[in-house]
Amino acid sequence: MARKIVITSGKGGVGKTTITTNLGVALANLNLKVLILDVDFGLNNLDVVMGVENRVVYDVIDVLKGKCRAKQALIQDFFNPTLYVLPSVHSVNNFNINSEQINFIISQIESMFDYIIIDCPAGIEVGFHRAVKCADEAIVVTTPHISAIRDADKVLSLLNSYNLSSIKILVNRVRGDLILNGEMFNENTIKDYLNADLIGVVPEDDNISLALNIGGATKNCDSFQPFNLIAKNLHLGERNFYDCTKKYKGVLGGIRKKMRKYV
Ligand SMILES: Nc1ncnc2c1ncn2[C@@H]1O[C@H](COP(=O)(O)OP(=O)(O)OP(=O)(O)O)[C@@H](O)[C@H]1O
Ligand SMILES: [Mg+2]
Repeated sequence: MARKIVITSGKGGVGKTTITTNLGVALANLNLKVLILDVDFGLNNLDVVMGVENRVVYDVIDVLKGKCRAKQALIQDFFNPTLYVLPSVHSVNNFNINSEQINFIISQIESMFDYIIIDCPAGIEVGFHRAVKCADEAIVVTTPHISAIRDADKVLSLLNSYNLSSIKILVNRVRGDLILNGEMFNENTIKDYLNADLIGVVPEDDNISLALNIGGATKNCDSFQPFNLIAKNLHLGERNFYDCTKKYKGVLGGIRKKMRKYV
């Protein structure tokens, strides 16, 4: 059976969709069969981010209405043959979907996959609960900013009321130069504050953002390294975290750190 992991956050815009897509690619690179499931029915954009929006034939609603089987709605990624996307609602009429219905869809295709990564909407409203009810595990994404950390804290306590086998945190948009200057919390401080287990660290990186804007996960090798580490931590139980401060250390790093201030 597939491991079903919801990527959630509390605060919006901290990088859930970015993490979902890149983690999906990184797991597929390990030759694992991965499904990325978009249950953000309000502002769904995962198909756009994955660059597959022009290939959407059927969506979740079509499956629920019996127009097609769940398998027919899956879209295979162009570059990663073991990576699939199940697109969210594309019709204008908002169909009231509950977690039982999504679980029904998952049950039809679960045996095809090693991992089902569920992209959760922002907030702790109905969409959050719907997404979490479909998962066995959760990854809470936060940035090193106090507002995001506080929201992650709230979400972590909500997740405790669910029967999840694992709850981890992931710190995104970390700036190594600011950590070295003592101007940003590092991942260990955040982990201790939240009293949660860390699964990964992702730096603030323009390549990550640019790759998603042109439709697709990060292709640049260096920028993809943090996601490879997270995939291995998740799948192989390793505990290797990307060091965001590394490139700002030493003589060259010192120059880079000074220049970062002006760009
Ligand atoms: N590590 C990063 N470095 C640079 N930009 C990033 C990084 N992570 C995310 N971003 C950018 O931040 C923006 C928000 O990211 P994303 O859409 O993944 O957040 P989200 O949590 O899914 O948002 P929402 O709550 O609205 O669903 C995007 O423009 C994305 O490219
Ligand atoms: Mg999103």
